Amino acid sequence: MIKTAVFGGSFDPVHIEHINIAKACVKELGIERLIVLPTENPPHKRAAETPFGFRAEMAGIAFSEVAAEIIVDETERENDGVNYSAENLPKLKKKYGDFVFVIGGDSLDAIESWKNPEFIVRNFQIAVFNRTGYPDAQKKADELNEKWHGDIKVMKYVGKAVDSHGIRDRLYLQERADGVPPKVKEYINSHNLYSRFDGYISKAKGFLDEKRFVHSKNTALAALELNRAHKLGVDYDKVLLAGLLHDVGKKFDKIPLSCDMEDIPADSLGTPVQHQFVSAVIVRDDFHITDDEILNAIRYHTTGRENMSALEKIVYCADLVSSERDFDGVEELRAALADDFGSGFLKCLTYSRDYVLKTGRTVYPLTDKAINYYKENL
Ligand SMILES: [Fe+2]
Ligand SMILES: [Fe+2]
Repeated sequence: MIKTAVFGGSFDPVHIEHINIAKACVKELGIERLIVLPTENPPHKRAAETPFGFRAEMAGIAFSEVAAEIIVDETERENDGVNYSAENLPKLKKKYGDFVFVIGGDSLDAIESWKNPEFIVRNFQIAVFNRTGYPDAQKKADELNEKWHGDIKVMKYVGKAVDSHGIRDRLYLQERADGVPPKVKEYINSHNLYSRFDGYISKAKGFLDEKRFVHSKNTALAALELNRAHKLGVDYDKVLLAGLLHDVGKKFDKIPLSCDMEDIPADSLGTPVQHQFVSAVIVRDDFHITDDEILNAIRYHTTGRENMSALEKIVYCADLVSSERDFDGVEELRAALADDFGSGFLKCLTYSRDYVLKTGRTVYPLTDKAINYYKENL
């Protein structure tokens, strides 16, 4: 009987580490046929992801370099987004016969929270690959094998922890995305995938010089990462746009004629703070973004204020610690943010205030208010 493995994933997009895992299945498990199983989200979650058909085709292209017969299976798509392994694995067994179910150590760790895990462990052979930076899966495998008489084997291959979310962020921002196989990149380009922000990006270039454009993209990347790492739950598109566009008003020394003076506080005129208000006006009037959450994140990204929304805090911090920043103390701020978002955010606020004081400038009143507020309400 042909030795088969089933390997699932969202593949949005498929990346080099997926291919390495498939190759390890061939080498270590003697797999001759690989069933690639793109996962499908429930309908309400689909808006932000690449449609199933494109992900399946990208997977087909990428896995074609693996020395095994490749079948991209559409079982999950047929179920319209309500998918449980406990229900899909028996269907796959009917279709393809016995197989090894390939999962990551992090999935094995979570398997007891899946629907009917005992049934899965008792009835299916499972191969687990470890990932660098994660605990060894062997202990969990032993525990489940004993508890439910499973056949879970840990592979020798240790996968690199590729950040697939980070790859997607970079594709959306037209940045180089290492880890995407060249043929998949060609497919992405020719099908215009990950392009829904392209209009904003080209327009933003008209407002930003090269250096500021790089900073703006980096701010968007840092903002997306903060939102994800701390599970802050802010809408993906809002985070990206607020980060990308926060400085579009910075090139104006004078207030552009199109700005209504009501939108620019008089005490900010001619100060470095002015540009946050101008940027918000430009984003509203020229980019036609009317979402208040985005506009406020831009409007207060330099000063902060009391009672900020999660998006306001994200953009405030991301602006300060974006990857090209190299001032003394930036590493401490990054570490503080990685450790705890709330207290890291307060450190960012106080750092900025102290910096303004050090340079002999006046601290904008909103900043002092913000610091006092967050000392009480962290
Ligand atoms: Fe700014
Ligand atoms: Fe900035």
